[in-house]
Amino acid sequence: MNTTKAVRAAQRSGHTMSAVVQTRYGAAPEHVLGMGRAERPAPLAGEVLVRVRAASVDRGTWHLMAGLPYPARLVFGLRRPSSLNPGRPLAGVVEAVGEGVTDVRPGDEVYGIASANGTFAEYAVAEQGKLDRKPANLSFEEAAAVPVSAGTALEAVRDHARVQPGEQVLVIGASGGVGTFAVQIAKALGAEVTGMASGAKLDAVRALGADAVLDHRRDEIPQRRFDAIIDIAGRRSLAHLRRALTPHGRLVIVGGETGGRLLDGLGRQFRAALLSPFVGQTLGFFVSKERGADLRALTALLEAGSVTPLVDGVFPLAETAAAVEYLVDGRATGKVVVTV
Ligand SMILES: NC(=O)c1ccc[n+]([C@@H]2O[C@H](COP(=O)([O-])OP(=O)(O)OC[C@H]3O[C@@H](n4cnc5c(N)ncnc54)[C@H](OP(=O)(O)O)[C@@H]3O)[C@@H](O)[C@H]2O)c1
Repeated sequence: MNTTKAVRAAQRSGHTMSAVVQTRYGAAPEHVLGMGRAERPAPLAGEVLVRVRAASVDRGTWHLMAGLPYPARLVFGLRRPSSLNPGRPLAGVVEAVGEGVTDVRPGDEVYGIASANGTFAEYAVAEQGKLDRKPANLSFEEAAAVPVSAGTALEAVRDHARVQPGEQVLVIGASGGVGTFAVQIAKALGAEVTGMASGAKLDAVRALGADAVLDHRRDEIPQRRFDAIIDIAGRRSLAHLRRALTPHGRLVIVGGETGGRLLDGLGRQFRAALLSPFVGQTLGFFVSKERGADLRALTALLEAGSVTPLVDGVFPLAETAAAVEYLVDGRATGKVVVTV
């Protein structure tokens, strides 16, 4: 059922909820993310219905909203978005559980990633494996900031860069959603971390634990210094990044926005993977697997105090469009959250 039909069906049945309702793709949040009424979802077998207390925004939110780059539409709806809205991470309270759910019960406080997009709403469903209990020391706003961005950072630093104690690690894009977690996770693994961001945000990057900082508008990256580079932003050339790595260093490309409508600059990622077998350094990229096991590993790091979400903007549900705008304009330091 497309979104418009879902809204009509919900109005007929009376089981509606307040939600951000997106019926068409568009690059300007204020034109496509409006408030409305939508059908309250019901949990299927293995799923959990969550009363959403907070959801978060990341670069992926914008891509889902805009339907860009175009190949994303093969998955998220060819002509219009197939989901209610582009929200994916959530934190909230279990309202009801589907058949076979044993991990959580109504009333439990949880966080994780929704199975059908649409967490900018009063209710959303998630598979039980994609949820964990909310860390006791985190607010709903802080918990909602974690699942997508911190999960990506964990995969980049631990699994792909395989960071070891005492290694020199450079995080490019250290002040953003993924970067603020990557700095802290690399420190938790015992690395010496250099964080690169814009000048005004460097104090925040230091406060996260970075041992050194670089201003991406002014500073050169030192050559042959780093055992691992986590490249989240800036789209520097492979040659440039390789010069900064030690002879057997690892480059992990997480992202980097180009605005390209067809591939959004993925060519650089593919070139890195193709070149890697022929050089001493390891070069590559990955797409986050969003595993439940990673969420549980993050819960442990969060409860131990090794990682703390840096939440910058907090917006009410009715201002979700402004929240996306705030992130995409580059004003946020860390994560942007929507409260429901
Ligand atoms: N591979 C995956 O599975 C995966 C998963 C999640 C996200 N991603 C991608 O990762 C990227 C970052 O996502 P995000 O949510 O962290 O975005 P974000 O919160 O908007 O953060 C972007 C960061 O990039 C920095 N930056 C901008 N221009 C830069 C430059 N020229 N040099 C160095 N740093 C620069 C910004 O710093 P200042 O604001 O201080 O300039 C900020 O720290 C996106 O491209 C996203 O699509 C990939």
